[in-house]
Amino acid sequence: MGMQVQSAEATFGAYVTGVTLAALSAEEFRKIHDAFLEYALLIFPGQGLSNTQQQAFAERFGNIEILVEGLKTIPVSNKPEHDKPYGSDDHRTKLLKGNEGWHTDSSYMPLSAKASVLSAHVIPDSGGETEWADMRDAYDKLDNATRTKIAELNAYHSYFHSQAKVGHQVKAGAGYGFFEGEPPLHPLVKVHPETHRPALFIGRHIKCIQGMSEAETEKLIDELTSFACRAPRLLKHRWAVGDVAVWDNRCLLHRARPYDMSQARVMMHTRISGEL
Ligand code: OGA
Ligand code: MN
Repeated sequence: MGMQVQSAEATFGAYVTGVTLAALSAEEFRKIHDAFLEYALLIFPGQGLSNTQQQAFAERFGNIEILVEGLKTIPVSNKPEHDKPYGSDDHRTKLLKGNEGWHTDSSYMPLSAKASVLSAHVIPDSGGETEWADMRDAYDKLDNATRTKIAELNAYHSYFHSQAKVGHQVKAGAGYGFFEGEPPLHPLVKVHPETHRPALFIGRHIKCIQGMSEAETEKLIDELTSFACRAPRLLKHRWAVGDVAVWDNRCLLHRARPYDMSQARVMMHTRISGEL
């Protein structure tokens, strides 16, 4: 029957079946890449990829961003491999709690991420979904006054800032994204380099809009986020073990949903670098 791309009930997102990601032909990848640009989020149920297979799939989209020295695919996990979950005060737990805020990957880096691949290995009994929101549709639906107001604005994005907001004080050098020096500046409206569609480029890593106070920034970003992150621009996926998702960080926000952290949740993440 071949590959089926079924659009989700939202302004974006599609479920893709009838394809084996571990053995993709060039023609199948071309279809997937076209669908990726159109839908921005593709969910492939029940692929059960090994880390090596996931990495090979991610590499078709571009260069891998190395988040942990020596690893191209990293666990997004609340536990070590053969032990019980980390405690609530653990640095790693606090990073996971941070993921529950709307964000786009690596916006705290000078080169924000192009895309991310995430797969489910262990899932909790309830909660622990991932949710995405369409920033292209959000931009399209803004009123003219807001569009004009934000057209030329740029914001500093900082991982120290976003973690501090969830009560996590992090020192420079404590991991990827926690570097000294001025945080990178990104426009509030990002024009997609491939589709040329404009999208709101916001999220929890924004510390300050250039020329505004942090308080003014927070008010504006909160307003934009609550407008942007609502139906029909939302898609929440309840994971089954083996599912794989790839999304376009240039035009979507995403977040993890809460779950009982005494239960295990193990996801594998591969991030594709942005392009200048
Ligand atoms: C990520 C992320 C969300 C989740 O891996 O970048 O934000 O649901 N994950 O684990
Ligand atoms: Mn993320």
